[in-house]
Amino acid sequence: MGSLSLTCSKVKQKEHFPVIHTAHSHYAYCYRCSLNLEYPSCGIECAKELENLIFKKELSPEDTAAVFVEPVQGEGGYIVPPPEFHKEVRKICTDNNVLLVADEVQTGCFRTGPFLAMENFGIRAEISCLAKAIGGGLPMGAMLADRELMDWPPGVHSNTFGGNFLASAASLATLQFLGKENTKARVKELGSYIIQRLGELQENFPCIGDVRGLGLMIGVEIVKPDKSIDPILRDKILRETFKERILLLPCGDSVIRFSPPLVITTEEVDLGLEKFENALRRATR
Ligand SMILES: Cc1ncc(COP(=O)(O)O)c(C=O)c1O
Repeated sequence: MGSLSLTCSKVKQKEHFPVIHTAHSHYAYCYRCSLNLEYPSCGIECAKELENLIFKKELSPEDTAAVFVEPVQGEGGYIVPPPEFHKEVRKICTDNNVLLVADEVQTGCFRTGPFLAMENFGIRAEISCLAKAIGGGLPMGAMLADRELMDWPPGVHSNTFGGNFLASAASLATLQFLGKENTKARVKELGSYIIQRLGELQENFPCIGDVRGLGLMIGVEIVKPDKSIDPILRDKILRETFKERILLLPCGDSVIRFSPPLVITTEEVDLGLEKFENALRRATR
């Protein structure tokens, strides 16, 4: 329920749920800056909003349990913030004595290279939330927190499926496998390769407005000739890619996400990109 109250992905996910007082501030979406500024002359104004707007007008830091942030925005459109963004958010949290929680549900478990995506930014959150990949396909979630925050007596937070043997075994096996392999370097290397190949496609397909990503978390923003969003074309491309037997998901208003399994081979990447190019050609002719 925490995430249902916190999310601003879709209003239907919040409907009929009791509300905890939350406030949302802008993410560093430099391709479409909501503050109409340009990086780096913007001075990361979006991060400073937290202090200048939220903590001044909406929520007192005294009454604020935590600031939640995704290292790379997932559902919002696979948005990679510039390096200073998380540093600024971290500083504001520290200055105001508010906990920083990294939502690593999508970004964690080596998806962006290191185990936690915040490591890319040299940032340490007091709490990190993990799920999805940590279970290796079985339902598993985890919360990592500083020891001094974990002083709850046993049993205050219990549930039916917590500690499920099968999910725990799958999770341990997944972590052992990913930890042993040269996962970080491999993810970085493959990610750069995919971004470079998508960048080449961008030169031939003007509907690709932006290619961005970190490790194997890559987004392609589909645009109209005037660079405004084009969700109709985005969905058409997804349908054409599906006909090529490649499953891609949308995110944000007009973005296609590439989030392949971490064990994907270079040959499989090449095949997938070839099929994506076929789909692009058919969708745009
Ligand atoms: C970034 C992020 N946080 C949290 C969640 C919710 O995770 P769960 O379904 O494990 O509650 C999602 C689900 O997509 C997500 O993408």
